[in-house]
Amino acid sequence: MTARSNDMAALRAALLLLLCGAAAAAGCGYQSCPSTRPGFLNVHLIPHTHDDVGWLKTVDQYYYGAHNEVQHAGVRYILDSVVAQLLAEPRRRFVYAEVAFLERWWKEQKEGMRRAVRTLVEEGRLELVGGGWCMGDEGAAHYSPSVEQLSLGRRFLREALGPCGIPRVAWQIDPFGHSRQMAAIFAQMGYDGLFLGRVDYQDKKARESRQEMEFIWRAGGASDPSPDSDIFTGILPNRYNPPLGFCWDQLCSDPPVVDEDSPENNVEAVVSSFLRIAADQAQRFRTNHIVMTMGSDFHYENAELWFSNMDKLISHVNAKQSNGSRVHVLYSTPSCYLWELHRANLTWPVKTDDFFPYSDGPHQFWTGFFSSRPGLKGYERLSSNFLQICSQLEALVGLAARKGPYGTGDSAVLRAAMAVMQHHDAVTGTEQQHVANDYGKQLAEGWAACQVLVANALSVLGGSKESFFFCEALNISVCPISEGAERFSVILYNPLPRRILWPIRLPVNGTSYAVTDPDGQAVPSVLVPTSTSTRRLRRPQDGGAALRELIFQASVPAVGFSAFGVTRLRGTKTPPSPPKPERPYEIENEHLRVRFDPITGLISEIRNLERGITLPVTQSFYWYNASIGNEDSEQASGAYIFRPNSSHPIPVVGSGHVSTSVVKTPQLQELQQRFSPWCSQAVRLHAGQRFVELEWTVGPIPVGDGWGKEIISRFDTTLRTEGRFYTDSNGRQILERRRDYRPTWNLTQTEPIAGNYYPVNTRIFIKDREVQLTVLTDRSQGGSSITDGSMELMVHRRLLYDDNRGVGEPLREDARQGMVVRGTHRVLLDRPTMAADVHRLMAQEMAAAPHVILSASGTPNVREFSALRSELPPSVHLLTLSADGETELLLRLEHQFESGESCNSSQPVSIDLLNLFAPFTITALQELNLGADGPLTSISRLHWKPATGPHHRRRPPTLLDPHQVTLRPMQIRTFLATVQR
Ligand SMILES: *[C@@H]1O[C@H](CO)[C@@H](O)[C@H](O)[C@H]1NC(C)=O
Ligand SMILES: *[C@@H]1O[C@H](CO)[C@@H](O)[C@H](O)[C@H]1NC(C)=O
Ligand SMILES: *[C@@H]1O[C@H](CO)[C@@H](O)[C@H](O)[C@H]1NC(C)=O
Ligand SMILES: [Zn+2]
Repeated sequence: MTARSNDMAALRAALLLLLCGAAAAAGCGYQSCPSTRPGFLNVHLIPHTHDDVGWLKTVDQYYYGAHNEVQHAGVRYILDSVVAQLLAEPRRRFVYAEVAFLERWWKEQKEGMRRAVRTLVEEGRLELVGGGWCMGDEGAAHYSPSVEQLSLGRRFLREALGPCGIPRVAWQIDPFGHSRQMAAIFAQMGYDGLFLGRVDYQDKKARESRQEMEFIWRAGGASDPSPDSDIFTGILPNRYNPPLGFCWDQLCSDPPVVDEDSPENNVEAVVSSFLRIAADQAQRFRTNHIVMTMGSDFHYENAELWFSNMDKLISHVNAKQSNGSRVHVLYSTPSCYLWELHRANLTWPVKTDDFFPYSDGPHQFWTGFFSSRPGLKGYERLSSNFLQICSQLEALVGLAARKGPYGTGDSAVLRAAMAVMQHHDAVTGTEQQHVANDYGKQLAEGWAACQVLVANALSVLGGSKESFFFCEALNISVCPISEGAERFSVILYNPLPRRILWPIRLPVNGTSYAVTDPDGQAVPSVLVPTSTSTRRLRRPQDGGAALRELIFQASVPAVGFSAFGVTRLRGTKTPPSPPKPERPYEIENEHLRVRFDPITGLISEIRNLERGITLPVTQSFYWYNASIGNEDSEQASGAYIFRPNSSHPIPVVGSGHVSTSVVKTPQLQELQQRFSPWCSQAVRLHAGQRFVELEWTVGPIPVGDGWGKEIISRFDTTLRTEGRFYTDSNGRQILERRRDYRPTWNLTQTEPIAGNYYPVNTRIFIKDREVQLTVLTDRSQGGSSITDGSMELMVHRRLLYDDNRGVGEPLREDARQGMVVRGTHRVLLDRPTMAADVHRLMAQEMAAAPHVILSASGTPNVREFSALRSELPPSVHLLTLSADGETELLLRLEHQFESGESCNSSQPVSIDLLNLFAPFTITALQELNLGADGPLTSISRLHWKPATGPHHRRRPPTLLDPHQVTLRPMQIRTFLATVQR
């Protein structure tokens, strides 16, 4: 860079600062921070409440304070009480995080109260932190709904409270481990800092001794060392609780400060205890500023208790200064504490790995929640998929989608339900059963509203009024229309920005069918008998008794739909049972061949025919008996914690043979495996597809022998993996994992299985120099590689004991004598250098899969539709296309490859946005921050100096050329487009 352009950059930065200063003229932001005392130890008290968006009670029960016998908590009273206490005394400050609650409260307030709250926010006395709809989980969450929920919260804050309501600090004080992808998302939303409550106890101890509790997290990893993904991160000293003895909520029992003339007067004791704690804490941090979180779960319902005691504490501690004390205590906020750290002008250590897994003791690894409640986790991922489809159709069709022949619907209900689901006790599966049921109900209400919208939109785009059916039980092969109708059409909506070939599988009762594509051309199809495992799953009340399944491959254009016609052919008798296939222990398509061991019935080998790679692979199901505590520790396995009672999992099929049956047709070759009455699997190769599909069905897990069980699917290979395996971070970045090892601290491994488990949100793989075996998941699961060449995923768990982390229930999921869960793994075999080209695209195909809608009344007039003029290149994903009012759309485009992982697709790529969409013209385009709550140019972040590694300044945003929008590897860009239809 020349000196001249340096000056230009500086000028630009100065202008940006000026602009932002103007926006925040009311006085919020760092200039409203309380004054501190140089040369003193400044203790920042952070009054806060931690309000779970559902846990032991539902969201509504928490808000209204219902069922206080379960847990005393009423968020509306907390907000009432805090605001009154802040108004009463200007020095007091408070921080609030969960917008799901704040938004409800705000709607109930009169204008006078709203004005008062806005003033508190503008004066920095009430600070919003985090600012998502909830405090999102990082272990089981996918990045797409995580971005959406943060955006939903931040956009509400911007609208209700103005620019001062936009948080500067991400506040992840309770999630059970922290992902690098989420840190990168926080950075790209413009947060100046991130505060964490829970990190591994060994890591924390080491960091305290090295004064590395605060550091720069280089969250882009090695592939993206850009400062846009760096975020200053602080670990809080005491999780998010007050120091011992200083808990003054009505939920606590520490003695209040008595400074009156009374035998109870305890000022000297309180002050000296406080000074001791502060001095001790200061040892572990670098600057002369330290932080204390004054609050906890659902505190401040009677805020006066906390505030009046802190008022007294502050005045008595600071009074000691006249006797030479060098401690200054003050009401503060996370951003004001951060500001002081920044002013200290130090260089900070750099971290590039993540904070998984989390453990709070030698036998307490919080790696169970990666897999807890697989049914709910599956529904959550499916709902995220449907939300994308609903949002796209709302954007493409406009008002006529919201209100039309099928009624009134929109995406807002599902968006809010999905935002709630991201909470760290929701998608994690760590809520009580009745709360899990409530989350499911919220999602179902969202689906209903979206189904109305989708029907309206399809009738507009298709040019005819059909009766649409959303067959929600296709996973158990139940759909009255396909089973009963003589003729029906299958409409497939594809949200991906590329054409897709998708296997369709529908329950039918007829003996012969003809399928036609949108042009009326015949599509090859086959009938296969409904499998025994599927027939066992269907209950009479589910309806559905179809004898067969109709299978064909549907090709669907980008961001659009295709309608296929299906006609039942008359006059054919029951088809003769197909001849016994030759080679019953082998299935094959044009890309892959899978062999099974005739003795055991297990997969024994996978071959990629194009690449000429053959890998011996044995796949089977096992379980770990859940620990109920032992001589080492009383810790039991539970909703949060995974603790097997032995390192050796037990095979589901003992020494015997897995019973198998094979079907071979030109469209599909499938081998059914039955491991036990409660565990079965279909291994499938679909024509034209590059993956082996493993559809597993597990449950009810038997617990009659007194043992809780944690079921895994394990792949054993001959790959020389040298203790390494790879997992994704929230479905996006890939991180290398090493057995019994952490990249930045010396691990003493105390749980050889649970301590090696990591979150798998979409994929896990193992590889050597020649071969990579990848497994893609349809929901978040825990996974590991316990021995070289082996890889396992925990698909289901059922437990008989609580793990003593507060939820107070064993994870039994007793419905129907124990939850049955069905899901799929897609297995890929490739060269390591080529693997990303397939797994990147396929993971998006699974997370943004096409949706099947049936119509019994005929085919739409328009049988094929695509909203794109041309497909996007493989490296680009359309992350968001949603309506923002009638004439504006929100767009997020992302580069879905990391640099260096693909020869073809890891390069920067440019898109012509103006000529991308067919149904509308973009008349104006503005680039926004990732949260979509403000222009990108208004982001100005604090700059922190790393002690090691490159030290770049943030690139100023380049001028936007809508004809040529460039994306770097892993970059997400967000736009607000004004459109003319
Ligand atoms: C910050 O520290 C650097 C040296 O690392 C020094 O050059 C600079 O003047 C300092 N800035 C302030 C504002 O003290
Ligand atoms: C399909 O056939 C089965 C067995 O004959 C029958 O029980 C079921 O009712 C049929 N379903 C429909 C929708 O016709
Ligand atoms: C880990 O232990 C080794 C050997 O005891 C030591 O040299 C190294 O500095 C330690 N690393 C960290 C990050 O503490
Ligand atoms: Zn919590």
